[in-house]
Amino acid sequence: MKIEIIVNGIKYSKDVPPNQRLLDFLREDLGLRGTKYGCDQGECGACSVILNGEIVTSCIILMAQLPPQSDVLTIEGEDQVLQLLQTTFAEQGAAQCGACTPGMIMAATALLIKNPKADQDEVEEGLCGVLCRCTGYIKIYEAVRAAQRRLVSK
Ligand code: FES
Ligand code: FES
Repeated sequence: MKIEIIVNGIKYSKDVPPNQRLLDFLREDLGLRGTKYGCDQGECGACSVILNGEIVTSCIILMAQLPPQSDVLTIEGEDQVLQLLQTTFAEQGAAQCGACTPGMIMAATALLIKNPKADQDEVEEGLCGVLCRCTGYIKIYEAVRAAQRRLVSK
């Protein structure tokens, strides 16, 4: 099937198998390997990307399910909030093995784009779809809070 899709601001027109998953399209067809494989069952959030403004798990979305002209933001994108979060995650040491980090940053990006003044409970709720097996949640929350402080002081 023919699809038109925007990924990180670039428009693609491609032939894809209808049962191809968005995760595989991003990693294999576009070479965007920052979006991670985890459970492959929509449970861990490692594969999270922002699709038309909403955080989604790309391992359970088929290309045939995408609305026309879908707009996807991945960890490789150049969105300002995304890049700010990448900086604060690095500064705060908010990654241990790093397996969850792209998904965490994408979930935080989706949250802060919608609600830059989210309180602690809202931050925790916004990130709850991404599991960190290293249990490094405190530093992750601190990184999101640091990004928020910079956003509201701009
Ligand atoms: S790999 Fe998609 S949710 Fe775990
Ligand atoms: S840093 Fe290892 S899973 Fe989160």
